[in-house]
Amino acid sequence: MKVTVVGAGAVGASCAEYIAIKNFASEVVLVDIKEGFAEGKAMDLMQTASLNGFDTKITGATNDYSKTAGSDIAVITSGIPRKPGMTREELIGINAGIVKSVAASLVEHSPNLILIVVSNPMDTMTYLAHKVTGLPKNRIIGMGGALDSARFKYRLAEALEAPISDVDGMVIGGHSDNGMVPLTRLATRNSVPASEFLSEERLEQVLQDTKVGGATLTGLLGTSAWYAPGAAVSGIVQAIACDQKKIFPCSTLLDGEYGLSDLCIGVPVVLGRNGIEKIVEIKLTDTEKAAMQDSAEGVKATNALI
Ligand code: LAC
Repeated sequence: MKVTVVGAGAVGASCAEYIAIKNFASEVVLVDIKEGFAEGKAMDLMQTASLNGFDTKITGATNDYSKTAGSDIAVITSGIPRKPGMTREELIGINAGIVKSVAASLVEHSPNLILIVVSNPMDTMTYLAHKVTGLPKNRIIGMGGALDSARFKYRLAEALEAPISDVDGMVIGGHSDNGMVPLTRLATRNSVPASEFLSEERLEQVLQDTKVGGATLTGLLGTSAWYAPGAAVSGIVQAIACDQKKIFPCSTLLDGEYGLSDLCIGVPVVLGRNGIEKIVEIKLTDTEKAAMQDSAEGVKATNALI
């Protein structure tokens, strides 16, 4: 199992680190445009191998996609991150050009790969990756919902004063402050609906805190987050590499599902060796449907800019 991670910045490096620590891939190739940067990160990470007990071989390459040839999975994290006060959508001008050329170079050297898009605005970059590569839709996956759901569970556990392992919840919709649709109705603490423990107002607060999860961190860190994004990507990569058939909310090209088409947006999918093996259509309430519709309109407005 060979995995390429493009962009050796904070998200790319933490993604490579989590993949290696989970020890399921034989090789991770880190690629960056900055001379020597990916090689340096790869060497530093390799020097943690004996300490952290993994055998995954991590190598680095400066913009040399021949080193990525034969990748089973590739992750695109490259592009600029947001600064405090910026929306993900404001990154489109620079990031669209980068994602276009990176996606084309990856597919040229690994025509059978499964592509995971992380660069923002993520739903639009995933849609762009489809346009550029023409890969079948099961092989292009946008990472957003897995991260947003992890942030939702963090906020739920905080409100419930419960361990995170007792909590479950999912966020669908676009990966943007206004576009996320946290499904509070379906959130549970060990199979008991969270609404049994929390007032409507408290659940609404959880929902609002979840939606601005990335922006809150950008305000604190001065740039966008990396540990949880890296961990979320590694979970998706592992589900594919190990054919786990796990459900994650991911951005995928819709063709009528959820009453939406011709856009990529977050919905629950089953992930296995073939990438997106099934889109799971759950019954939404009228309020949730309206929120999905609004979210889709936002994503389509951003798509119109590419
Ligand atoms: C975030 C970025 C990865 O939400 O979109 O932190």
